[in-house]
Amino acid sequence: MVRFVTPLLALSATAWAAASCSTSSQCPEDKPCCSQYGECGTGAYCLGGCDPQSSFSTESCAPMPVCENKSYTWDNDDNVALNTKYLGNASESDWTYSGFPKYEDGNLIMTMPKNSVGTLFANNHYIWYGKISGKIKSSRGQGVVTAFILLSDVKDEIDYEFVGADLANVQTNYYWQGVLDWHNSGNASVDGGDTFNDWHTYEIDWQPEQTQWIVDGEVKRTLKKSDTWNETANRYQYPQTPARLQMSLWPAGQASNAQGTIDWAGGEIDWDSEDIKDKGYYYATIGQVDVTCYSAPEGISTSGNTSYIYTSDTALQADVAITGNDTVLGSLGATGLDMDLGADSSSSATSSGSDSVPTSSGGGSGGMSGDNASSSSGSGSSTSSSSGSAATTSGFDQGTDTNGAPAVNERALRGSLFAVLVAVVVLVTL
Ligand SMILES: *[C@@H]1O[C@H](CO)[C@@H](O)[C@H](O)[C@H]1NC(C)=O
Ligand SMILES: *[C@@H]1O[C@H](CO)[C@@H](O)[C@H](O)[C@H]1NC(C)=O
Ligand SMILES: *[C@@H]1O[C@H](CO)[C@@H](O)[C@H](O)[C@H]1NC(C)=O
Ligand SMILES: *[C@@H]1O[C@H](CO)[C@@H](O)[C@H](O)[C@H]1NC(C)=O
Ligand SMILES: *[C@@H]1O[C@H](CO)[C@@H](O)[C@H](O)[C@H]1NC(C)=O
Ligand SMILES: *[C@@H]1O[C@H](CO)[C@@H](O)[C@H](O)[C@H]1NC(C)=O
Ligand SMILES: *[C@@H]1O[C@H](CO)[C@@H](O)[C@H](O)[C@H]1NC(C)=O
Repeated sequence: MVRFVTPLLALSATAWAAASCSTSSQCPEDKPCCSQYGECGTGAYCLGGCDPQSSFSTESCAPMPVCENKSYTWDNDDNVALNTKYLGNASESDWTYSGFPKYEDGNLIMTMPKNSVGTLFANNHYIWYGKISGKIKSSRGQGVVTAFILLSDVKDEIDYEFVGADLANVQTNYYWQGVLDWHNSGNASVDGGDTFNDWHTYEIDWQPEQTQWIVDGEVKRTLKKSDTWNETANRYQYPQTPARLQMSLWPAGQASNAQGTIDWAGGEIDWDSEDIKDKGYYYATIGQVDVTCYSAPEGISTSGNTSYIYTSDTALQADVAITGNDTVLGSLGATGLDMDLGADSSSSATSSGSDSVPTSSGGGSGGMSGDNASSSSGSGSSTSSSSGSAATTSGFDQGTDTNGAPAVNERALRGSLFAVLVAVVVLVTL
């Protein structure tokens, strides 16, 4: 079991310190949404990553934008929004991000400057079965991890993870509702043995009855739903809920992380490596990304074509419906329980400090890491454990890159301060 101890939060006694949440400790009604990182809030906390099982109620999280067939290229950042700006309109912004992206030669470069916590891109259109495909050159170096994953709001997860200490292989993994099972991971060799220098195409073909990991057109691994049956619990422990595509570069080998995470990542990060000296950052390069949506499973309740919602916090496949419900919040103070709150006030005065934009603490995969030592029980822990002593840079980026209303700027700055505090979170395994 993992606990977060936040000495500085206690010392500074800041009013905006977010309450933490889990499936056994739901958020209070005034900050009803449990973010991907396990903290309660409103606004962006209720969007992508909002966990219905840990939130005040299933309806606290905003409905999830439905899947869209789309190819993404990177000539500019027109379809990309900072996580401090996005209010749930996926037609306006396909991606939200935090960290330090660059756009070069039609590619996205996710960077991780010295002592930072990297970069995270999350697609705003949920996928409920489909195929994702990415042309990727991974990062390199021990302790440096590139991730290309599908992650649902209840932590169903299907992963590719590139560990920078082993460029000949890519790791495959899956989780059901964040339950750790060390038997789930796999290791696929990549032709040519150099995931850093060579382009390869990595696909996840996620269907209701099976999932395949495919590299350069070759099936490397097949997971059958039928093989995930849990006799005791009478359920399939198979990823089965709407998930977002997330791409990230993160410092798994940060010295402050759990030893198991560091070992899995091939050792501690060298912040004076060749890439840091030459470029000033570690980096992973993303080329074209394609998403193909499959149709929903048979028998699913369908009353529109706008959004997916959870109808029960059991959160199995049959607990998801397709609706015409709107996905856009009126302001950062709004929640799934009152979507329009603050829509007509430009200052969004209803929101309260950083409790409206969750800090991602950098590019942690957002879900589980390959960490084998700190038996974390939710994604928050792996992400927080990946936040090193210098999340300041990530926070600053968010703070200085805002150009919206003063209220938004202030929130972003508070958010960046919060990121600094999160960075000193000490992870204690009990
Ligand atoms: C969807 O919309 C219906 C009708 O407006 C509403 O009753 C219901 O609560 C909404 N559900 C969610 C999850 O927002
Ligand atoms: C979402 O954005 C699109 C494109 O800018 C716009 O046409 C649409 O009206 C917006 N939807 C909502 C609900 O704000
Ligand atoms: C993956 O396979 C390679 C080659 O067999 C091995 O060196 C590496 O340690 C393996 N990685 C994991 C995580 O099992
Ligand atoms: C199967 O379900 C039981 C009961 O919920 C649980 O204790 C057990 O850990 C599950 N097995 C696996 C492999 O997750
Ligand atoms: C996406 O494309 C697939 C394959 O071409 C097609 O079967 C499916 O209906 C499309 N889905 C949507 C939501 O457009
Ligand atoms: C979604 O539903 C609306 C209203 O029923 C319909 O006009 C529209 O064509 C549908 N869109 C898609 C992509 O099916
Ligand atoms: C994780 O830990 C378990 C139990 O300690 C061990 O059996 C397993 O080999 C470890 N897995 C990896 C990937 O290190």
